[in-house]
Formats: sequence, structure tokens, C-alpha cells
Amino acid sequence: MEELVIEGGRRLQGAVQVSGAKNAILPILAGCLLARGKSVIRNVPNLKDVRVMGEMLRELGVKVRWQGEHRMEVEVVQDDRIEAPYEWVRQMRASFWVLGALLARRGQASVPLPGGCVIGVRPVDLHLKGLRAMGAEIEVRGGNVIARAPQGLHGAEIYLGGHFGSSVGATVNVLLAAVLARGRTVIHSAACEPEVDDLANFLHLMGAQIRGIGSPRLEIEGVEDLHGVDYFVIPDRIEAATLLIAGAITRGDVKVVDARPEHLFAILDTFREIGVPLEAGDRWVSVHCGEMVRFHSVDITTHPYPGFPTDAQAQMMALLTTVEGISVITEYIFPDRFMHVAEMNRLGAGIRKENAHAIVEGQRRLSGATVMASDLRASAAMVLAGLVAEGRTRIQNIEHLDRGYERLEEKLRALGAHIEREKVGVESARISA
Ligand code: EPZ
Repeated sequence: MEELVIEGGRRLQGAVQVSGAKNAILPILAGCLLARGKSVIRNVPNLKDVRVMGEMLRELGVKVRWQGEHRMEVEVVQDDRIEAPYEWVRQMRASFWVLGALLARRGQASVPLPGGCVIGVRPVDLHLKGLRAMGAEIEVRGGNVIARAPQGLHGAEIYLGGHFGSSVGATVNVLLAAVLARGRTVIHSAACEPEVDDLANFLHLMGAQIRGIGSPRLEIEGVEDLHGVDYFVIPDRIEAATLLIAGAITRGDVKVVDARPEHLFAILDTFREIGVPLEAGDRWVSVHCGEMVRFHSVDITTHPYPGFPTDAQAQMMALLTTVEGISVITEYIFPDRFMHVAEMNRLGAGIRKENAHAIVEGQRRLSGATVMASDLRASAAMVLAGLVAEGRTRIQNIEHLDRGYERLEEKLRALGAHIEREKVGVESARISA
């Protein structure tokens, strides 16, 4: 096992490059199942989740080759495999997104239900609703979704809004099915996250006919075939937000190269409300905090894009623990996504959870301690808090962090942070009550 050890108190300064977007490459790799011929995907982040999706594709008859650290070559070489192994879905729930592509290309699929995780139950009812509307016969047996489309899929008009608004995963699964279905599919209340747009642009380049990209209404005319392409994945807006918050929480000067301001509107608006001095160009954003800068508490509610992203909620909470006043964070997307609260309080933060709200009493002096990472974004929040906690912070179970951040400690060290990765013994697990 490995742990991160951070000596807090250093102001970060300098420029850092953001990697390709994890949540764009994962659906794009699922989309590769649809094409005949080879695709080259560039700006691929070298992450555990991406490697798991690569293994999933290999099990489904796809040749996957890494060409250098950030480029993948992907080609379907055998298209009679229809069973996705639980081993990969268990490790990375987005591998459930091969369902729509397998149904569209191979007419049937057996994909394990992904199950829940620490941030929520993670249902897939909207995914199945959309595929059934397109003519798929679906049953759930033995923990697997078994889907067949003996006559092929047909277009349908589908509303994908759920109790929590639009769904990234359901939009991805239905979009991947619709591009090869017979006729027209209209998806209402489609997710508009930039990563969904990136998938749609990738499919469009492959020859798919999609209108309304970037809007909550996607219109797809099914086509017969899709061909391989050479594609450059968008930068990761959540990593960019995490690195900008690292600059703000240490009251430093940090420029994030390749950050797209147009993908970060809600984050930048929150920074402005807090009083974080910002500058931005087409392909970069920077924070410049002098020692005397005064930040203000704010209230945040997470929403589907273009709202404040749930994936940056934990990281922004870390910043707000250092800001004078009371901030209230409402988690609308995953109401249980507060595993980081208890760990942050171990560092001396004063955060109270009330249902889907976290009340953050700011301006607390954080002091270093040993804390445990529970999920990807909570891990990032603990790193951010460790950057300002007095003394040493040790973060255990950092395999969660490696799922979504490429060498984060190296990027932060290059900005002046005292942060090291250490190999330790067996996995640490808190003894549950
Ligand atoms: C994607 O998960 C992201 N994962 C998540 O990022 C992100 O937090 C989430 O979208 C929301 O933006 C990837 O892209 C790989 P949803 P997904 O379907 O698709 C409910 C990270 O940290 N819902 O948009 O699973 C659901 O419970 C990860 O990178 C249904 O009710 O999320 C949630 O409350 C964590 N029924 C809301 O919708 C369904 O059928 C949004 O979920 C599907 C979802």
C-alpha cells in the first residue's frame, strides 16, 4: 500500500499542466466498440480507471495498445464477445457504459450491475429505461443486466431526467446505442457535461449524426457504420479546479495550463464570490493570492452542468474550512457525498453534516494528522487540507486518488508543496463500529 505524507504551510507558486479528462476518455473508450477500424486517442490521462477500461475492452475483443504515456490505439478485432466480466465493472462502474455500445453493435450484452459506492446507491434505472425505449429486451438476473435486441435497436423519444436531474451515465449509454439504431432518437434532459459533449464530438467524427451537442436535447439519426478516428481528449476540468483550489488554499500564485474557462464557469464564479483573485485566457486560468487577501464564506449547491460540479464539492469544502465565516454546502446530486467531513474534522475543521447539507465553520487552524481517503474526490480534498494543516498529514488508502489524478503529488511538488508518496505495509482500514 502507499500513503501520501504532506508537510503543510507552503505557498504554492508556478504553472502546472492539467491532464486529459478521465470522465471524457472513459465513455470515448466505450464508444470505440462501435467502430470498424483503428482509432488513435490522444491526451489520454494515465490513470487506473483508464487502464481498467482498457482491460474491459480487451475482454470484449478489442486490441488496446498504449503508444507512449498519453496515447492509445484501439481497434475491434473480434466482435462476438458480449459478456463484460464483473472483475472490471466491480472496480470501475463506468465500464457499465459498454452496455449501450454492445447492444448497438453486437445485438446483445450481459453486463454486471455496477452496484453502489461510498458516495451513493448509484442506480441505473434511467439507463435501462432509455435502452428499453429503443427496443432492447432487458432482464436483471444474477447481478447482471442481460440485454438483447434481436431485431436491432430503433430510434425513440426518451426523457432521461431523474429525481436528481440529468444523468451523465444514462445519457452516455443511450447515446452510444442510438448512433447505430434504426431511425431517429431524441434524448430530452440529456446531460450537458463537457465530457458528454466530448463523446458526442468523437462519435460525430466517426460518422454519427448528432444534433444539439452541448444542449439538453440531443437528436440522433442512426447510421449503418462508424469508422475509426484520431481524437484529442478535452482537458480535465475537475483536476483543473483541484489545482486552482490548491493555489487558493495556500494563498499562492498558481497558473493551470490547458484549463478551459468555458468548462469552469460555476467554479470561477464561486472563486469570485469568495474573493479569490483570478485571471484567465483561452487555455489557462490562474489564481494570484497575496498574503493579505481576505476570503469570504459562501453557500454552494451542486447541480448538473453547468451548475457547480459535485466532483469539486469536497475540494471546495477544504478551501472553505480556511475562510472566515460560515459556509453551507448542499449536495444535490449525491446527498451522501460527505465522507470527507469526518476526516477533515480530524484535521481540526469545524464541519457539521445535516442531511444533504454541510455547515462549514471557517477560519479554523488545521493541524496535521493521519487521515483516510474514502473515495476519489474526498482523497483530493484531504490533500488540499494537508497543504495548509500545520505539521505533518498522512493520507492512507490513496489508491482512490490514483483512480482520477495522474501523479498529483508530482504536480503539487513542482509548485513547491512538501509532499511525498511512501510505500507502507498492509492496507489500513478503520475498524467499523
Ligand atoms: C458521472 O457519474 C461521473 N462519473 C461522476 O464522477 C459524477 O459525479 C457524476 O457523473 C455526476 O456528474 C464518470 O463520468 C465516470 P449520474 P454517473 O448518472 O454517470 C442519479 C468522479 O469523481 N441517477 O450523472 O454515475 C444518480 O444517483 C465521478 O469522477 C439515477 O437516479 O452519475 C445521481 O444522484 C464520481 N438513475 C444523479 O442521477 C440513473 O439511472 C447523477 O448521476 C442514473 C443516475
